[in-house]
Amino acid sequence: MRIYDIIKKKRDNYELSKAEIDFFIEKYCEGEVTDYQASALLMAIYLNKMNKQETAYLTEAMMNSGDVIDLSGIKGVKVDKHSTGGVGDKTTIALAPLVAACGAPVAKMSGRGLGHTGGTLDKLEAIPGFCIEMQADKFIESVNKHNIAVCGQTASIAVADKKMYALRDVTATVDNISLIAASIMCKKLASGANAILLDVKTGDGAFMKTLDDSFDLAKAMVDIGSEMNRETIGIITDMDEPLGFAVGNSLEIIEAIETLKGNGPKDFVVLCETLGAYMLVLSKTVNSFDEGIQRIRESIKSGDALDKLRVFIENQGGDKKIVDDYSLLPKASKIVEIKASKSGFISKIEAEEVGVSAMILGAGRETKEDELDLSAGIVLNKKVGDYVEKGDTLAFMHFNKEEKLQQAKERLVDAYEIVKEKVEPKRLVYGVVT
Ligand code: URA
Repeated sequence: MRIYDIIKKKRDNYELSKAEIDFFIEKYCEGEVTDYQASALLMAIYLNKMNKQETAYLTEAMMNSGDVIDLSGIKGVKVDKHSTGGVGDKTTIALAPLVAACGAPVAKMSGRGLGHTGGTLDKLEAIPGFCIEMQADKFIESVNKHNIAVCGQTASIAVADKKMYALRDVTATVDNISLIAASIMCKKLASGANAILLDVKTGDGAFMKTLDDSFDLAKAMVDIGSEMNRETIGIITDMDEPLGFAVGNSLEIIEAIETLKGNGPKDFVVLCETLGAYMLVLSKTVNSFDEGIQRIRESIKSGDALDKLRVFIENQGGDKKIVDDYSLLPKASKIVEIKASKSGFISKIEAEEVGVSAMILGAGRETKEDELDLSAGIVLNKKVGDYVEKGDTLAFMHFNKEEKLQQAKERLVDAYEIVKEKVEPKRLVYGVVT
């Protein structure tokens, strides 16, 4: 077999076989297929697309390019949740204890932020002492004992994906549904879950900006899941405006805790209930979605979810006192308010602009090497659909670096649109793909 022939075949729009896809991934990881050959093939895939079968073969080959974690030592059906990412997405911090408190095992491997805001691991590291590195045996023991553990993905998972993503990033081949679906699913499958719940974000702050693309991505990932015998559900949810009010690592930890105390923002509560209910269904903990919703609500009301959060934090070396005393979390030295320049209804809060503004304040990384300011970020005071009078506070900016304020402020102010006509609040869930 020759890589030249495989590139030519895809360039001429023919379907690749499993053997050809396996050959490409294996030889690329070994360095025998060069970056320029891989780039040519990725561009041919980008232009001519892959069908369902080719996408599944690609995912499987990428999954097998690194370690495949064995979670069989954990009792029960292990369900993993993945979000395609967005601004203010602190879902795992609240959802993992919620679902664990309802009796389903949560064995989650998370990543750091790729784009403008921090990822789940960055957020967890805002908790003093919290350790995201865990040996496999401790990880399995923790889930068996407490139903919950969240750790960082090891570098040896889906090795091909790391190489390919870096290449796609510089060759304009990122935004292809098959390549994105294979990239996300190979890591989920290698992480050892029996079932997968996908939160596919849609809108301004999401990878997928249109509803059609979001549904197509969800469908491609659900198809991969079924080809690989993993029950998979995709939920399409809003990311046109930031999720909840808080954007920034420490600020999002507080919002997640408040949600477990029963004081969460409406959109975030709906998201946690919806995803939580589906996770309970997938893990066979409940028999129906409605029963799942009930159980999630009860675990907040009874304080079980909050207790589970304390156990989770303590088990991973963190200070559980933060749950009751937020002053123990990193805190910015300065807070500035952003005021409405006119009266009217908020029709837009562009999630991406809010994310970039928070990043400028230090909440996210512009380059991989950037160090985060875990205390920095933005807390919205209003959401789309709210009425404001001129001079009302739209948002609070939390920061330490004065020199970044002006630039961040301009981006944040630009994120808002205020109109005269009444505007409906955004809906959160757009659909479910099974
Ligand atoms: N996230 C991933 O992990 N991979 C992609 O290709 C896009 C988003």
